[in-house]
Amino acid sequence: MALDVEPAVSLRGDLAVPGDKSISHRALLLGAVADGDSRFTGFGASADTLSTAAGMRALGAEVDVDGDVVRVGGVGLRGLQAPDGPIDCGNSGTLMRLLPGLLVGQKGRFELVGDESLSRRPLGRIADPLAEMGAQLETEGGHAPLVVEAGAPVRAIRYELPVASAQVKSCVLLAGLFAEGGRTVVVERHPSRDHTERMLEAAGARVRRKSGEPGVWPAERLQPLSLAIPGDFSSAAPFVVAATLLSGSSIRIHGVGLNPTRTGLLDVLERMGARIAHFNRRAEGGEPVADLEVEHADLVATEIGPAEVPRLVDELPLFALVAGMARGDSVVRGAAELRVKESDRIETVKNALRPLGIRIETAHDGFRVRGVPSRPKGGGMVETAGDHRIAMLAAVAGLVSREGVRIEGAESVAVSFPDFFPMLDSIAAR
Ligand code: S3P
Repeated sequence: MALDVEPAVSLRGDLAVPGDKSISHRALLLGAVADGDSRFTGFGASADTLSTAAGMRALGAEVDVDGDVVRVGGVGLRGLQAPDGPIDCGNSGTLMRLLPGLLVGQKGRFELVGDESLSRRPLGRIADPLAEMGAQLETEGGHAPLVVEAGAPVRAIRYELPVASAQVKSCVLLAGLFAEGGRTVVVERHPSRDHTERMLEAAGARVRRKSGEPGVWPAERLQPLSLAIPGDFSSAAPFVVAATLLSGSSIRIHGVGLNPTRTGLLDVLERMGARIAHFNRRAEGGEPVADLEVEHADLVATEIGPAEVPRLVDELPLFALVAGMARGDSVVRGAAELRVKESDRIETVKNALRPLGIRIETAHDGFRVRGVPSRPKGGGMVETAGDHRIAMLAAVAGLVSREGVRIEGAESVAVSFPDFFPMLDSIAAR
């Protein structure tokens, strides 16, 4: 689907973004293996999280999604049933990487498949540690389909992550719930999002939430959960960036999750000179939440290195646009993970911003952006490569450009944020 995004004068108004995608996936996964009924409000319904809802139903859990309220009837920690056919993970890397951690503690044969993009993404990163724990599973050369032959005992390990990945960390920790031999520990050089650790703790599991070295002990059961899921920082990010870049803008985004393992973009924007204020700080569902007020600001270039990358990995495409409009050249290093996201985001970001006149030099693990502090020209066509984050980047780029853009593949926003375009329209003054 092609969509034209016209330039905006400014962004003004109030909005609230859908519930956090990472937390919504985890709510369904843990709710399904809890003892009894869990209830979640603020659920972020999207193609990805609905793949998880369908997957957990196929495994025997009851899942009712009613707007942003979800009830999950859990079957117990070892109660998931092997379905007749494969479980379709769609586009969701989080489902494909986290679910096997729970499946190794069940009995039977489970097959996980995904769409074309997901089938290109690496699974060796979870297959290796699970095999080290004694689980029996097979991939096709490190890719989907993934088959888990569950039933063999698994043992606790101490696993040093070869890549910074919350998905891999979460998978190993979930498998640790079933492990013999005490505590399973994951060592990560640069801490990644810790929603799994927080939610496991809320469900009564014995968790050690040490940053950089989280651990989990085996469990007999998980308690059902009752949580309010905060707004998704990654869905708020396009609005934060657009309001920062467009002069005259002033917006307020209500109820945004501000888990410090997710908000690297705020730190980066603040050191570039952005004007972002936090109000009504509170905790919801074991996660920090606040309202954000964002006003336009002129920005200067900055550098991002490997330690910061996991805290803004999904926002790096947007950072490329921000850098393109800042004073000076900006650099991202230590972000090779971008190459194995829903698309190769080092290449797709470069290609998306080229029609706007933003110059990006790529490296194997990042990019350098030539900043020009004025509105990019625009007027061209941007191809999303079926990647939701590239579609949202293209929309913000069109809005802040002088001539707008045409987006080819705009429908991919449905993967994480089905109402993205109407919400953007509702606060754009043209
Ligand atoms: C996610 C972790 C990140 C992120 C993805 C969601 C999660 O992936 O890119 O969108 O929910 O755990 P990696 O941990 O593999 O970097």
